[in-house]
Amino acid sequence: MKDIRVGIIGGGLMGREMASAFARWCAITDLPVRPVLVAVADLNPASLSWFECIPSCVQKTADYRELLANPAVDVVYVAVPHNLHEKLYCDVLAAGKDLLAEKPFGIDLASARRILSAVESSGRFVRCSSEMPFFPGAQRAFEMARGGQLGRVLEVVSGFHHSSDLDPTKPANWKRSSVTCGEGGVLNDLGMHACHVPLRLGWRPKRLYAQLQKGYGQRPDGRGGMAVCDTWDNAVLHSWTEVGGVEVPLRLEMKRLAPGATNTWFIEVLGTESGVRFSTSMPKTLEVFERGKEQWWKRTDLGFGTPFKTVTGGIFEPGFPDVIQQMWAAYLAEREGLLEGRFGCATPQEAVATHEIFAAALESQKSQSVLEIG
Ligand SMILES: NC(=O)c1ccc[n+]([C@@H]2O[C@H](COP(=O)([O-])OP(=O)(O)OC[C@H]3O[C@@H](n4cnc5c(N)ncnc54)[C@H](O)[C@@H]3O)[C@@H](O)[C@H]2O)c1
Repeated sequence: MKDIRVGIIGGGLMGREMASAFARWCAITDLPVRPVLVAVADLNPASLSWFECIPSCVQKTADYRELLANPAVDVVYVAVPHNLHEKLYCDVLAAGKDLLAEKPFGIDLASARRILSAVESSGRFVRCSSEMPFFPGAQRAFEMARGGQLGRVLEVVSGFHHSSDLDPTKPANWKRSSVTCGEGGVLNDLGMHACHVPLRLGWRPKRLYAQLQKGYGQRPDGRGGMAVCDTWDNAVLHSWTEVGGVEVPLRLEMKRLAPGATNTWFIEVLGTESGVRFSTSMPKTLEVFERGKEQWWKRTDLGFGTPFKTVTGGIFEPGFPDVIQQMWAAYLAEREGLLEGRFGCATPQEAVATHEIFAAALESQKSQSVLEIG
């Protein structure tokens, strides 16, 4: 078993999620490498102190440059507000470390392109975080779509819905301000999740019309006052892509105001012969359409058929922490040359492609017109 020593910059929501995935790495049974968390950097002392529960995490610092100077760190995972992505990602690469970057991979398209050029000149192994395609149902939908079993593809819908912003008393955080989240707002926040599988299938939007909506203009700031919230909160992108030489409607949905949805990622691909649907609202269930003399929607419970094998019983249902761990398994396996045809993490090129879609969506919203994507 080879140890890969990981440092985390940004020990907030996602930094802690990753640390907990490493802490139960014994669940993974078919990979000869394991991540060992050795260092964390965060400006907030309360965030740092949580990492006391990880004995291997011996370096805790408020200054991420100290983490980057630590020769005991091989790979750095960065989970900080979007306005800091470019500076921190480029600093990680300049320090000679490999990187698992959080989405959206820079605050906007120009930033993402600069990061990509730093990645290419550094020669480091870099991928972007996007864990939802590692659900067994998502994998099955991907394989069916890739395998051409669906006949002529009629339409594709891929999206990610949240609902907690419907509560006007929910305090604002950096994700509700364009300065820190980016002008893209919900596109930056949830867009990679919606775009990853279509992009991996080669189904890039050629042109699109965007409908973007804002929610509440202000929210409690958590200190007794109110904070201005200026980001787009819902985005529906009506686009055309090309599948097998034919133009096909592809709808990408990213919503913070979707009544009742809690972190609901979904994909639906409908074809003339067959179709497939998966949503994390039913995390072990796959729906498959079959056209025969009669037409059927069939439903099966897939259980725990993850790409990387685990000790977890095959009948159990997968969840968010499981797919986070699977994503890390894919990152580490690919870094070691051990991916063996399994689904890999989002590439820097795919991350830039998402920003090309977001930039076109912002422009489409502004001009209220259909935009070609170059
Ligand atoms: N993959 C996913 O499903 C998923 C889910 C949520 C968020 N994210 C992404 O993860 C990233 C972080 O989001 P989050 O929800 O964890 O945010 P968060 O606010 O919970 O955590 C961010 C942390 O970064 C720290 N920080 C800020 N500036 C820093 C600096 N200069 N040096 C060190 N630490 C610093 C903050 O103190 C905070 O603890 C974003 O890019 C976001 O889009 C991904």
